[in-house]
Amino acid sequence: AAALGVAVLGCGSVGSQVVRLLEEQAADLEARIGARVELRGVAVRRLDAPREVEVPEGLLTTDAQGLVSRDDVDLVIEVIGGIEPARSLVLTALEHGASVVTANKALLAEDGPTLYEAAERAGRDLYYEAAVAGAIPILRPLRESLAGDKVTRVLGIVNGTTNFVLDKMDTTGAGFAEALEEAQELGYAEADPTADVEGFDAAAKAAILASLAFHSRVTANDVHREGISEVTAADVASAREMGAVVKLLAIAELTDGAVAVRVHPAMIPRSHPLASVREAFNAVFVESEAAGQLMFYGPGAGGAPTASAVLGDLVTVARNRLAGTRGAGESAYAAREVLPMGRT
Ligand code: HSE
Repeated sequence: AAALGVAVLGCGSVGSQVVRLLEEQAADLEARIGARVELRGVAVRRLDAPREVEVPEGLLTTDAQGLVSRDDVDLVIEVIGGIEPARSLVLTALEHGASVVTANKALLAEDGPTLYEAAERAGRDLYYEAAVAGAIPILRPLRESLAGDKVTRVLGIVNGTTNFVLDKMDTTGAGFAEALEEAQELGYAEADPTADVEGFDAAAKAAILASLAFHSRVTANDVHREGISEVTAADVASAREMGAVVKLLAIAELTDGAVAVRVHPAMIPRSHPLASVREAFNAVFVESEAAGQLMFYGPGAGGAPTASAVLGDLVTVARNRLAGTRGAGESAYAAREVLPMGRT
């Protein structure tokens, strides 16, 4: 029977769950794809680091470039995060003819077009459902299910750490620092919590959402960004008195034929569906002309939920590969129907 070789880059909280699921779900994956998926290697920075999963003997390597260049690697899963070496590895993988699944929001928001063009040249898939809102299926709906509609606005709670912090402040009256410490202990935060707290993580996700929702090319630079570090216990309490709650919102909308994208703390009425998003959960609220209002809700961070989205993409790119086709992973961006505000 046919077999597809998989390489996993990174074995942190997401990577280790990907490796676990690849093993535990091997039989189901084979049935759904129509071919066996064989793990060829897991690239890590240090061989002796503690991990959540036992990687089969001989599969760990520190030579990521070597791994993605192998002829028997058909599918590459990039869950290292950050710009380099992730970008070079994804580009090398595509050049060598592999299909790529990534969860890397920062890389896509900063340099997406370079990656989409490389995928286009290689004639391979580049899928990234896990990059925005973890387990929540939101990119496929925007790219595919709503492709015949006209999205007018997207409102998202797309950072679990800051939602947890704001929720804690709201329910317990805790201050910002105390709430953040608790969020970090739960393991949702980025390695550098500044990325969460100052809205960089949400801005990267907002850029990706806006690009797909409006068939545009929005980068992190186009996003007006303000984090939650200045939000005080008093701000949260006064919102509460007004029947509102403070949330860090990613907002993308069409105004005067351009896409405006911003991330900032906002007061929303408790009656709005987004007000019910508690703890580290995420939600994306979409308004469109024909469908009306839709809300996508679920776990937006964490190893296993993010790995769920990664594996879903893996099944899609593996099926495409066997069928000799490519999906719509990046072609939506090529449309460029509207430009981000301020760009001509
Ligand atoms: N640090 C991110 C969050 C992880 O808190 O939502 C998921 O991208």
